[in-house]
Amino acid sequence: MIRSKIAGTGSALPEKILTNHDLEKLVDTSDEWVKTRTGIAERRIAVSESTLSLSVKASRKALKAAGISAKDVDLIIVGTVTPDMVFPSTACFIQAELGVKPGVPALDLSAACSGFLYALDIADKYIRSGIAKNALVVGVDLFSRIIDWKDRSTCVLFGDGAGAVLLTPTKGKSGILSSHIHSDGNHWKSLYTPGALEPSPFSSETGSGSYEKPFVTMAGNETFKLAVKTISNACIEALESAGLSKEDVTLLIPHQANTRIIKAVRQRLKIPEEKVFLNIQKYGNTSAGSIPIALDEAVRNHPVKRGDVLLLVAFGGGFTWASAAIRWT
Ligand code: COA
Repeated sequence: MIRSKIAGTGSALPEKILTNHDLEKLVDTSDEWVKTRTGIAERRIAVSESTLSLSVKASRKALKAAGISAKDVDLIIVGTVTPDMVFPSTACFIQAELGVKPGVPALDLSAACSGFLYALDIADKYIRSGIAKNALVVGVDLFSRIIDWKDRSTCVLFGDGAGAVLLTPTKGKSGILSSHIHSDGNHWKSLYTPGALEPSPFSSETGSGSYEKPFVTMAGNETFKLAVKTISNACIEALESAGLSKEDVTLLIPHQANTRIIKAVRQRLKIPEEKVFLNIQKYGNTSAGSIPIALDEAVRNHPVKRGDVLLLVAFGGGFTWASAAIRWT
């Protein structure tokens, strides 16, 4: 049976660090409040970097780690809701920048914070079906560009960053064992960013003030509660479908949105603290970048060994959610 495996990982963070103390100068907040309620101490902000430049940097690292040339990549999928341009897609720009062969399919998909796992799921299916052999999967977001920096309820939460993996086929019982993606558009109002289009010049309402600014808009409490329940269920789904139990998990890599959400999930699932990867304190919520950045740090800085079971799980605007169970090769 052919599965896909992660042959290499990479990530890229902007240089500028914005601490909670820096934020105290922008809005009525405190380092203590942000740390206690979210676990975040600082985040990275793209000033000279772009969605493309971070994606390319992360992709090059993933290709190098996998020992695969860009010329052999035959699929590019990017999860992002903050592309540099409306079109062409970030994936098309990456294709040109890396020198991936013309004709190779390259696409972006929109699933907010679940974007990377959505992209991974689709790439996995292309590899399993034999259509693709070397799939580049990227998760990237620059939420600093869609945040109202006067809104303390959202601006303390997010940061910028990109992560990438290179998927290749493998035989046997390792690689991506199970992967699931889901959505429920009924809850869209709890977390969204409006204003992608200018009002129609032909509308009678034009100029009437109905235009919403393109900033992240969130019902924090509702999002929190739904996230805990949904992420917990998504973990169970990935494990059951892979024929694994909670005890088999070597490392849980959850979407880094809030340490309190992660703690509640961990307690529900009875997964010990030392088995949960956290880097939210350094980067905040980097949306689609969150999981591939965490995965890259886990693989490079921690002893992830052949045979280890990694459980990846995400939740985001839409609502969208996704999970994957991986036996490391
Ligand atoms: N600094 C200081 N005070 C703040 C603040 C900030 N940055 N943001 C909100 N507050 C205040 C509120 O105004 C409120 O004050 P009040 O009691 O006088 O009305 C108080 O803190 C409590 O606000 P509340 O919204 O109830 O706090 P909370 O404990 O729910 O934490 C979040 C708020 C946003 C941290 C939390 O709801 C959360 O993390 N939600 C999920 C967000 C998320 O993960 N989104 C992405 C999903 S992918």
